[in-house]
Amino acid sequence: MAAPEQILTSLLKPAFDRLVPGADPMLRPSSREGFDFQVNGAMAAAKKLGRSPADVAADVVRAEGLGSLCSRVEVTPQGFVNLRLADDLIVACLGDVAADARLGVAPASASLKVVVDYSAPNVAKEMHAGHLRTTVIGDCLCRMLVFAGHHVIRENHVGDWGTQFGMLIEHLVDVGETSGAHELSVGDLDGFYRQARAAFDASPEMQERSRRRVVALQSGDPDTLRLWRILVEESLRYFDEVYDKLGVELTRDDVVGESFYNPMLDEVVAQLDSKGLLVDSDGAKCVFVEGWTTREGTPLPLIVRKSDGGYGYAATDLATLWDRFGRLGADIALYVVGAPQAQHLAMCFDVALKAGWLPSPERAVHVSFGSVLGPDRKMFKTRAGKTFKLVDLLDEAVERARAAVSSRSAELDVDEREDLARAIGIGAVKYSDLSTDRARDYVFDLDRMISFDGNTGPYLQYARVRCLSIFRRAGLDPADFVGVPVEVGVGEPAERALALALTGFSSAFASAIETWSPHKLCAYLYDLAVVFTSFFEACPVLKAPDETTMRSRLTLCALTAAVLGQGLELLGIDSPERM
Ligand code: ARG
Repeated sequence: MAAPEQILTSLLKPAFDRLVPGADPMLRPSSREGFDFQVNGAMAAAKKLGRSPADVAADVVRAEGLGSLCSRVEVTPQGFVNLRLADDLIVACLGDVAADARLGVAPASASLKVVVDYSAPNVAKEMHAGHLRTTVIGDCLCRMLVFAGHHVIRENHVGDWGTQFGMLIEHLVDVGETSGAHELSVGDLDGFYRQARAAFDASPEMQERSRRRVVALQSGDPDTLRLWRILVEESLRYFDEVYDKLGVELTRDDVVGESFYNPMLDEVVAQLDSKGLLVDSDGAKCVFVEGWTTREGTPLPLIVRKSDGGYGYAATDLATLWDRFGRLGADIALYVVGAPQAQHLAMCFDVALKAGWLPSPERAVHVSFGSVLGPDRKMFKTRAGKTFKLVDLLDEAVERARAAVSSRSAELDVDEREDLARAIGIGAVKYSDLSTDRARDYVFDLDRMISFDGNTGPYLQYARVRCLSIFRRAGLDPADFVGVPVEVGVGEPAERALALALTGFSSAFASAIETWSPHKLCAYLYDLAVVFTSFFEACPVLKAPDETTMRSRLTLCALTAAVLGQGLELLGIDSPERM
């Protein structure tokens, strides 16, 4: 059985459709006491029909079956319909959730091959707050896709190729391989890069050497490649540490850096040429696509090959599309990349479409995201104007969590407290990122993130721990209450509200994955935790008035723990057993 929300929508849609074909009624939580949902849509339909909204709403309410699903139906003079679900329906839907190891989330009807491009830090450059977003959002989308039953190919498009490597390799030679490699492996990437840049800027001789080095790199000179590999290897080693700290699922096997596409670029350009898409513009090879112009209205080129013969970022991204839809046979390719690259990606997608590599526009998706801001709502920088290192931010979050843990959970032993601090600190940072609509910017505020109240990671983790503590006290295993047929009572308002919230996991998951929006899953989990907290305060579980009520409430608690646990896992956030 579907969730109540989906059952209602499947009834209301045809009812509206009969009045105004194509009408899209919206189901929202009702703000009226005693009602669960509000249906909006009569007003828009009434306008089209030239009738009063209340009249239209009354017609809809007569829809077959609505009466048997709802115990109360109210039409307001403005044409809103307020619905209170029949308790039986909630109980039946919850029974389905309880009996299902997937908590009501049906696997996708068709398993798709989805390539997810995310994280993508640059060799010999620090990971900063922007990389936090792509890494955390990408990881969450992969987890959701896998849970839905899709075949996921993670691709970490590391920036490991380009003319800057001439300079970086020469700097490595100058400082000595061992000490250069050491600097990178301990995570002083920006230091290394800055010194290289300074040396390059100060010395024409170094500039000349670097230029020659780029040529050697491109022509595959073995010693140059060896030096290049040191830079890449030491940077990857460091990125792995950050991934480990963050608890994301990326591994070495997922690294498909820019250099991987280098051997394909000639072919990609030749194909564009043979399709008549390539235009010579001041010696550069470009593709012009309709609709792309500068602010002044002149056509905007996508530069595929620069006038010096070198390939750039655009050529590489065209190759990613060629490779992902061609060789890999992707059904969908997601690019989890910041909003400033929207135009670059949109142009690449358009060109790939024209070239026939991308089968249809909706199959390449730019999963865009906003910036992380400082407390002043400006770009997040240190006082000296430098960007924060991602690891420093993570370490500070864990440090704050450690302080909270030592005062709140003093009874736990040292090791457990340390694990807890990590789960809370990292979880808090990830949750604050994921719970923000990804299109929006947000302020990096550790005080807010690590708070145990409000829409935060620790609040969700704590709600689950509270559920589990009931079972621990009673010497019961929550697993015995999930995956079995149950009879749940919904006598008390708080019980009923929790049961209803628990039926909503599948539709929350569906809307999150449909729009590549983890925040929709977060919003649902937060609502569930709030409803559970009210239940916890209003309804005694182990001291319930009778055995049946106790079993029913234990089921509600076990399901809450299961849904919160599954939800947090999809977000990539650890759920501690005790706090
Ligand atoms: N390395 C780039 C950066 O740090 C991001 C690459 C994103 N992926 C892509 N296929 N363009 O900005």
